[in-house]
Amino acid sequence: MTEKWTIGHAVSELTAAFDADGLDTPRLDARILVGHAVKLEPSLLFARADRVLTDEESGLVRDFAARRQQHEPVSRIVGHRGFWGMDFALTPDTLDPRADTETVVAAVLNLRTATGAPRILDLGTGTGCILLAILKDWPRASGIGVDIKPGAVTAAAENAARLGFSSRAVFQRGNWADGLSETFDVIVSNPPYIAATELPALAPEVTRFDPKLALSGGADGLTAYRALIPSVRRRLAPKGRLFLEIGIRQADPVTRLLTAGGFSLRAEHRDLGGVVRCLEAIPA
Ligand SMILES: C[S@@+](CC[C@H](N)C(=O)[O-])C[C@H]1O[C@@H](n2cnc3c(N)ncnc32)[C@H](O)[C@@H]1O
Repeated sequence: MTEKWTIGHAVSELTAAFDADGLDTPRLDARILVGHAVKLEPSLLFARADRVLTDEESGLVRDFAARRQQHEPVSRIVGHRGFWGMDFALTPDTLDPRADTETVVAAVLNLRTATGAPRILDLGTGTGCILLAILKDWPRASGIGVDIKPGAVTAAAENAARLGFSSRAVFQRGNWADGLSETFDVIVSNPPYIAATELPALAPEVTRFDPKLALSGGADGLTAYRALIPSVRRRLAPKGRLFLEIGIRQADPVTRLLTAGGFSLRAEHRDLGGVVRCLEAIPA
């Protein structure tokens, strides 16, 4: 890499290096990382391609490139991820929110015509992305986000404060719904659901950087559903709805767990790839 980079050279060199490493989106990654180093939106880089980087900016670019070459996701390097039109700060304790999870948010928001001020419970809240996305588009709603990781609870509360939701969202540590006494109109969860046998096959971006507790669903991927479903039955209002994110091929086994736990399946919601990504259930 040259000593005095221009923005254009830095983007070209990083793109070539990432391409040689077989990263999926080398040019996009290079643009975002160089933009982050020089504090410019990626869309403005081309117009400033001849600007020479300061030594400090060059150092940042080298550091970001080395981290990306170790498979750290761009979102973790820049420290945030866009979800439902908002930016969520990430920490080592939080899952990097996935676009597929927006399927769950959209499914919940189908209920928006309901009157009143619904109470929402988000179990395994991570960054708080599901609860806060629901609150963004359902102004009368308020809720609680629960996570077993104290660091995730702190991160979610900080996201809520930065995004202006502190008056409608509370975050607390807990084991699924244990210890809660309130009943909720909507309970939502994206629990860890990757089977132990499938974990090693995931991309290093996932296995090295997402918290294990956010990924691992035990031997068959269903451990969290077995614990969570019985814990939520008494916390759901009589006309309430439960929304669970699921992994590929989990619709049938999770539906059986819902039935055994006193729920009836009301709907299946598919993600943009056509995969059933969310189950909606009501008390049986
Ligand atoms: C797949 S991540 C989902 C995070 C976030 N809701 C999202 O969709 O991006 C699962 C979350 O469940 C949390 N978790 C794991 N076991 C838990 C438990 N027993 N009780 C509460 N939360 C738990 C993890 O810490 C993690 O934040």
